[in-house]
Amino acid sequence: MAKPVSIEVWNPNGKYRVVSTKPMPGTRWINLLIQQDCRVEICTQKKTILSVEDIIQLIGDKCDGVIGQLTEDWGEELFKALSRAGGKAFSNMAVGYNNVDVNVATKYGVAVGNTPGVLTETTAELAASLTLAAARRIVEADEFMRAGLYDGWLPHLFVGNLLKGQTVGVIGAGRIGSAYARMMVEGFKMNLIYFDLYQSTRLEKFVTAYGEFLKANGEKPVTWKRASSMDEVLQQADIISLHPVLDKTTYHLVNKERLSKMKKEAILINCSRGPVIDEAALVDHLRENPMFRVGLDVFEDEPYMKPGLSEMKNAIVVPHIASASKWTREGMATLAALNVLGKIKGYPVWFDANRVEPFLNENAPPPAASPSIVNAKALGLPVSKL
Ligand code: GLV
Repeated sequence: MAKPVSIEVWNPNGKYRVVSTKPMPGTRWINLLIQQDCRVEICTQKKTILSVEDIIQLIGDKCDGVIGQLTEDWGEELFKALSRAGGKAFSNMAVGYNNVDVNVATKYGVAVGNTPGVLTETTAELAASLTLAAARRIVEADEFMRAGLYDGWLPHLFVGNLLKGQTVGVIGAGRIGSAYARMMVEGFKMNLIYFDLYQSTRLEKFVTAYGEFLKANGEKPVTWKRASSMDEVLQQADIISLHPVLDKTTYHLVNKERLSKMKKEAILINCSRGPVIDEAALVDHLRENPMFRVGLDVFEDEPYMKPGLSEMKNAIVVPHIASASKWTREGMATLAALNVLGKIKGYPVWFDANRVEPFLNENAPPPAASPSIVNAKALGLPVSKL
């Protein structure tokens, strides 16, 4: 039997019991639940990753819905426990839900929510930050300064890569990949090459229009190309940023063979999911190619790094913080709470999970809908006409 986990309770007499496995940023999400007659229980246990046993304890005998985190393993055991406790709703506080077995949730009649539309720009901005930090060797230079090693300007000191006029490659041009591509094209006048199973017409139109604008101003226009294979991107791009979802088809998408196709001085960025890269192969590649650089927000065996990675000067590593802006994290908490609340109250599912602004407006009550339920179709849930 697992040890009891500590909790904080809001609105103890609320009719519906909603559990959050972590304290989440802001208070709006708590207030929205309380106003709709929910008793909110927040796990305050000082343990970063809760076990399945911990969460089963939190669910208890009666639980209407749970807000969980991407570090948790939501499969058979947890959905069975939730369903047994009368629960019909679970929401990840994340856009990615590779930690959730959606088919199992559907089997138990549990709606699964996620939080798209609120972290696109924040995540793309971190990918851009890592790109700049890697290109201009910011972390190495900062460590050098702090170590008291700077004794005067030198022509060769921390020489890095210029972005302007180079080619940025994007693998997976969905919401976040497209936002990142636009930042790099518009901000640094980079040319774009992308690979995605779907054509990103809006992105192509944007680059074309921006290219025309530059040309009209006497500057060299930027260009775009939709690659016919991922390898084409790897071979041609100077910067490559990975934005696919993680599933069986994208596990170790970047492996030893693919790394060897990239330019020797290329920069690789990953703010998607760690297992998209074969991290052990990456460490070897970094060791053998000192001019190759990488910026990682996610890791194959999170929270751990593969042996050798932390010693690599040509790697910048940050702890899965791509969505960590105050506005985004508060918004994610709100969307996750409203996903659960919507199902409890029998509301329909919002008609477009990419257009969630009405749920984020603090000056107006949110729409009576769940912002984003990924198994809505499989559960036959009604869709909002608002
Ligand atoms: C973060 O990684 C998310 O999927 O929201």
